[in-house]
Amino acid sequence: MVEDMSNATISETTARLRQSGSVVSVSLSSDSHSAADNSQNDLIMQSVDLQVHYGDFLAVRDVNLAIHKGEITALIGPSGCGKSTIIRCFNRMNDLIPTAKVGGKVFYKGIDLYGPEANAGEVRRRIGMVFQKPNPFPKSIYDNVAFGPRVNGKPTKAETDELVERSLKRAALWEEVKDRLKQSAFSLSGGQQQRLCIARALAVNPDVLLMDEPCSALDPIATARIEDLMAEIKSDYPIVIVTHNMQQAARVSDRTAFFNTEIGANATRPTGVLVEYDTTRNIFANPTDTRTEQYISGRMG
Ligand SMILES: Nc1ncnc2c1ncn2[C@@H]1O[C@H](COP(=O)(O)OP(=O)(O)O)[C@@H](O)[C@H]1O
Ligand SMILES: [Mg+2]
Repeated sequence: MVEDMSNATISETTARLRQSGSVVSVSLSSDSHSAADNSQNDLIMQSVDLQVHYGDFLAVRDVNLAIHKGEITALIGPSGCGKSTIIRCFNRMNDLIPTAKVGGKVFYKGIDLYGPEANAGEVRRRIGMVFQKPNPFPKSIYDNVAFGPRVNGKPTKAETDELVERSLKRAALWEEVKDRLKQSAFSLSGGQQQRLCIARALAVNPDVLLMDEPCSALDPIATARIEDLMAEIKSDYPIVIVTHNMQQAARVSDRTAFFNTEIGANATRPTGVLVEYDTTRNIFANPTDTRTEQYISGRMG
C-alpha cells in the first residue's frame, strides 16, 4: 500500500518527539509482528510538526503527538483550538476540505500517511472515525453495519450475519436490536444510533478509532454507555477522542493533549497550539504549563 519511512526520517522523528517530551520508539516496519513491536514499542500513530492551513489561515501548528496501542488519547482545549482539524489529519479527512493544506507528517505504524503512495481510502478504512452527531445511513440497522464489509468484499450471507452480530455485540448494542435488525437505523435513540455508528466503524476491523466529540449530542446515560464501551474495546482498538468535556477526558483517557490558541506575530486570527501532552494523571493532577493548569481548573476557556 505504502512505503515505509526511511531510517533517516525515523531518527529525525524520534529526536523531535524526545524533545517534545513524548515517549517514543518508532516502528521500522508496517509489519505489526516486527521485532520492534516485541520490545517496548507500543506506538501506533504519531504526528511530527503537524500543521494545517485553511487557505492563508494557519489554524493549528507544531503538533507532535504519539498515539499508543491499548490506550485512549484525549484531545482537549477551548473551542477553535484545532482539535477537530488535528483529528481529521489522522485519517486524511481534511483531504475532503478543498482549502485545507496539511504540513508536517503523520505516521501510522511508521508509514507516512501523506506519502506519495498512501491511499486515502485505505487510510480511512484502517483508521475509522465517529462524529459528534450520529450519522447512520438511511438503511436498516443490519445494512448499516454490513455496509463497509460489503464495499470491501463479497461476504456470504452467513459471513455477513456473523460480522453484523459480532460488531453489534462489540458496540454493546446487540441485545437491544437483535429482534429488529431490519428496522430503519433512524428508529433508534440518539445513543443507540451512536453505538450503531461505532459498530459500523468496527465492522471493517479498523486499527484505530477516531472520535470527535462522540457524546456531545447524548444524555448522561447514553454517554456513560459509550464511555464503558470505549474502555472495553481500547485494548483492541486504540482510540483518539476529542472532547470538550474535561471530566470525560479525565474519566476515560490514558493520555491527554491540551491545546490552546495564540495569536502569532503577523496574524489576525488565533492559531491552535499543543500546549502539553502527558499522561491524563499528570495533566490533571500535576500539569507543567500554567495554561494547562488554568484551563483544567476552569480559569480559562
Ligand atoms: N473547513 C474549514 N474552513 C476554514 N476554517 C476552518 C474549517 N474548519 C475549521 N476551521 C477553523 O480552524 C480553526 C480550528 O477549528 P477546529 O479544528 O474546528 O477547532 P475545535 O475542534 O478545537 O473547535 C478555527 O479557527 C476554525 O474556524
Ligand atoms: Mg471540533
